[in-house]
Amino acid sequence: MKQSKKGQLTIVSAGVGDLDNITLKAYKTIKEADIFFTMQGDEEEYKELTEGKPIHKAGHAFFMKESDTRMNEEETKEEEQRIRTTVREAYNKGQKIVIIDNGDSTVFGPQMGFITEFKDLNPKIIPGISSFNAANALLQKSIIAGEKDLTGVTLTIGKVENKLIEKLAKTGSTVVFFMIKDFEEFINHLLSLYPADTAIAIVSKAGYKDEENTITATLETIQSKVSEELPFYKLVYVGNFLK
Ligand SMILES: C[S@@+](CC[C@H](N)C(=O)[O-])C[C@H]1O[C@@H](n2cnc3c(N)ncnc32)[C@H](O)[C@@H]1O
Repeated sequence: MKQSKKGQLTIVSAGVGDLDNITLKAYKTIKEADIFFTMQGDEEEYKELTEGKPIHKAGHAFFMKESDTRMNEEETKEEEQRIRTTVREAYNKGQKIVIIDNGDSTVFGPQMGFITEFKDLNPKIIPGISSFNAANALLQKSIIAGEKDLTGVTLTIGKVENKLIEKLAKTGSTVVFFMIKDFEEFINHLLSLYPADTAIAIVSKAGYKDEENTITATLETIQSKVSEELPFYKLVYVGNFLK
């Protein structure tokens, strides 16, 4: 009897920043793959790893609830259908399909919708270091902090609508803000919730050996210490661990 072949669908993190932050396991899994998805579907981006094998576009946040796919509804449906067809055809041929992602895919990762959409294919995730890990290393501090019996670290979104911030502000625990769009507006918002002398750190381009940068200050002084426009690739830390 002819045995039906089964493929494997895996999200593989290439780590964060420079490519040498990739784990050996991620590297091996990418090398053994037959077909790739990357966010842009760009052949150049990982060319030393993908070696001319087919690359498709994974896009941003497909198959996720309340997601921002950066497309209108109709385009989103068409793209999702294109991805479904490509993944399932490859899987039925017994191919190894790898979605190359960055950081920790489970931390605000835009490709987690593949896990739910293709649950029946038993997908896997090969973890990689997050911007959070690379930035922690630059700060050289133990980052779990807060008042007695109120310690911890929270990863959250840096926007004024985020209601969690005011609840955490009182605790002195560590809060790490991702995806801040309007830095000035956001710092002014923090100043309305935290004491002005609260310590803050900005870590930009963590994991990029020649570009990574840390600025530490207080909420009151941070804006005067920022001389250039900050990149989107930044994390902002507040909390008494910085003191
Ligand atoms: C969509 S989230 C993805 C996070 C990713 N899953 C991770 O674990 O790092 C993108 C946000 O992560 C942060 N980020 C990503 N790469 C970064 C880097 N190299 N340095 C600092 N922050 C970074 C920024 O806040 C950026 O806006």
